[in-house]
Amino acid sequence: VIRNADIAEMIARTQSGQENGYSQELEFLVPDQRMMQVQSAPIRQDDKVSGVVLVFHDITELRRLENIRKEFVANVSHELRTPVASIKGYAETLIDGALHDQDNAEDFVRIILSDAQRLAKLIEDLLDLSSIESGKLMRELTPCSLRSVLDRVLEGVYMQSSARNIAITVTGLDHDVVVKGDDLGLFRLFLNLIENAVKYNNDGGFVRVEVAPSEMMVEIKVIDSGIGIPPEDISRIFERFYRVDKAHSRQMGGTGLGLSIVKHIVQSHGGTVFVESVLNQGSVFTVSLPRV
Ligand SMILES: Nc1ncnc2c1ncn2[C@@H]1O[C@H](COP(=O)(O)OP(=O)(O)O)[C@@H](O)[C@H]1O
Ligand SMILES: [Mg+2]
Repeated sequence: VIRNADIAEMIARTQSGQENGYSQELEFLVPDQRMMQVQSAPIRQDDKVSGVVLVFHDITELRRLENIRKEFVANVSHELRTPVASIKGYAETLIDGALHDQDNAEDFVRIILSDAQRLAKLIEDLLDLSSIESGKLMRELTPCSLRSVLDRVLEGVYMQSSARNIAITVTGLDHDVVVKGDDLGLFRLFLNLIENAVKYNNDGGFVRVEVAPSEMMVEIKVIDSGIGIPPEDISRIFERFYRVDKAHSRQMGGTGLGLSIVKHIVQSHGGTVFVESVLNQGSVFTVSLPRV
């Protein structure tokens, strides 16, 4: 009846009565891939084994989450290793004599500084992520002024945007809109989106933030005239550490964590976020949040 060699063997072994049942993890491929923890036990009648009971626990989801965690730790370690190796290498070179080589010394120290900044950004993002996940950030949702949040974000990206001649405009906020949220969380949310819109833009491009309130919700679109996202990557960009172009993102000081932070913040506000994009034309990130 059961056309699975592993299960058949479990039944046979348990039925032989030599042992009192045992437990085993089995992988099934049909009808779909599942991991099962299977426990067998003999049914005894007058010292004879008259049957076998098998109990199946589906542990597919458990294993999947375990793998995600393992992968995350591996990714973090990898991301930390690169800048640390670079800092170590350049510091060693300086000590070994390059300190006295005026021309190179300054370049090397600049590289050390930029790698240290990357480490600091990575750690900051990781702390953000962990405090959101443990529920520390966003403990209380209070009325927050969208205008005040966006003003601070625009101030925060001003250096980057003006250096590349990218104009940022906000429309739809003639009357301030109040959302139910965590002030710092909302700041982080829009800083990440608008920073991306500037980073993955072309010099002289634009970023438009369009605010459109309705009765219960407010929709905020962050529109850019940038490089866009290839269709095959679009479903993955909210994943941790996922970057379309790793080298480009790194060079811009990216960690690949920004959008996963965005998604977490939006969800803990009871909102939604989605993206539409056309390669080489630009992207639109649409966030929807509950109003007060
Ligand atoms: N506005 C955008 N235009 C084009 N690509 C984007 C945009 N926003 C995000 N991306 C892509 O999604 C990736 C993930 O974004 P994010 O999580 O913020 O990481 P990063 O630290 O690289 O900015 C980026 O590396 C980039 O490839
Ligand atoms: Mg980013």
